[in-house]
Amino acid sequence: MILRSGRINLKRPCTPKISLSIRCYRDLPRDGFTNAPDSILALTERQLHQQPNHPLGILRSLIQNTLSHYKHLSAPSPIVSTYKNFDELEFPADHPGRSLSDSYYLNEKTMLRTHTSAHECDVFRQGTDKWLLTADVYRRDEIDSSHYPVFHQMEGACVWDDTHKDAHTAIASELQELESALKHTNIVTTDETINNNPNNPYQPTHRSLVAELIVKHLKMTLNLLVYDLFKHVQNTDNQPLQVRWIEAYFPWTGPSYELEVMWEGKWLELLGCGVMQQRTLERADVGHKSGWAFGLGLERIAMVLFGIPDIRLFWSQDSRFSSQFEAGKISKFVPYSKYPPCIKDVSFWVHTPFHENDLYEIVRECSQDLVESVECIDNFTHPKTNKNSLCYRINYRSMDKNLTNEEANDLHASVVDRLTKTFDIEIR
Ligand code: DAH
Repeated sequence: MILRSGRINLKRPCTPKISLSIRCYRDLPRDGFTNAPDSILALTERQLHQQPNHPLGILRSLIQNTLSHYKHLSAPSPIVSTYKNFDELEFPADHPGRSLSDSYYLNEKTMLRTHTSAHECDVFRQGTDKWLLTADVYRRDEIDSSHYPVFHQMEGACVWDDTHKDAHTAIASELQELESALKHTNIVTTDETINNNPNNPYQPTHRSLVAELIVKHLKMTLNLLVYDLFKHVQNTDNQPLQVRWIEAYFPWTGPSYELEVMWEGKWLELLGCGVMQQRTLERADVGHKSGWAFGLGLERIAMVLFGIPDIRLFWSQDSRFSSQFEAGKISKFVPYSKYPPCIKDVSFWVHTPFHENDLYEIVRECSQDLVESVECIDNFTHPKTNKNSLCYRINYRSMDKNLTNEEANDLHASVVDRLTKTFDIEIR
């Protein structure tokens, strides 16, 4: 049972200085949608993927080197219109990603991009055919070692001019090159997808031969890319790298797929991709072209390649982290002392239901990177009164210093205070 502390004078983790760009974001008109806190807006400045000695920067360069014939584009501002993030890509009106509990909004029409696909149409519109674009993306999410409200994605695409009479020959000759490169890899591919699957069909306007060639090109390009990354951590007993293709759904591609890699006995999802919907290309004024696109998460791959156990470490400014990495090199992270956790529970009766992501956001705002995980450990409904009670376990731990129990108590008191002020709940 948690007693509510009456203390208000809390030592809060230092709030980042308000920079010029945050002040600009703050100047945007606010409305009932505005839910992006300054602490998140401040992270737009960090640009970890641009730092050559940071694991995310190293991984970005590695991919760029592997796909060196793809033009690498610098990422535009993370502030995008909801049209760019969702509508241009045909996300349905009721897609959960649009909700205030899943995304950060500056106002009803402006948000922090939730994925790099938000820029696809603009890039195609500029006439670039083979390209990569890396950027920071923002999502309200749970709190644990693999989720952080900001992460990084790389988008890539390849299109051919369909009206060109040699289009097929161009794809086919590139396929030959990919095929011969794949011969030199130690990779086993399980493809669970079906050509022209009725549930994930080729597009009616695509001649099936073209669709098949594009799908082949997409899968081979990404098989090679994944091999090129994971060969750095392949076990010494020369076991092949196992990858698996599965069917997927994305509104702006058809057919759509996901690629997974076997890592430590489990399938790890790496990326989503597919053949660009002709409608989307038409919207980008390049309806005469066809091809594919993919989007991959950099953190998940970097955590494997560099052996980084907690996603918060990417944001650490502790030199014991940053000094371990060098541009162009994949090296194993050597953990420095892990400070002890301070575990605190909060239980309460719920009078009006709320979204869990809103609870996580409050914990994050009060504790920033000093919270390692939040987990619902009890959900109980009283048989007689029908009253619902929840208990959340919050694990406070700093990656850079010893967090005293008193500091953790202060953080926890501020969390409990904000929860009671925000939600219709009663602390037990
Ligand atoms: N944007 C998707 C995501 O964040 C990933 C993705 C899927 C990107 C399919 C693509 C694509 O370009 O074609 O989950």
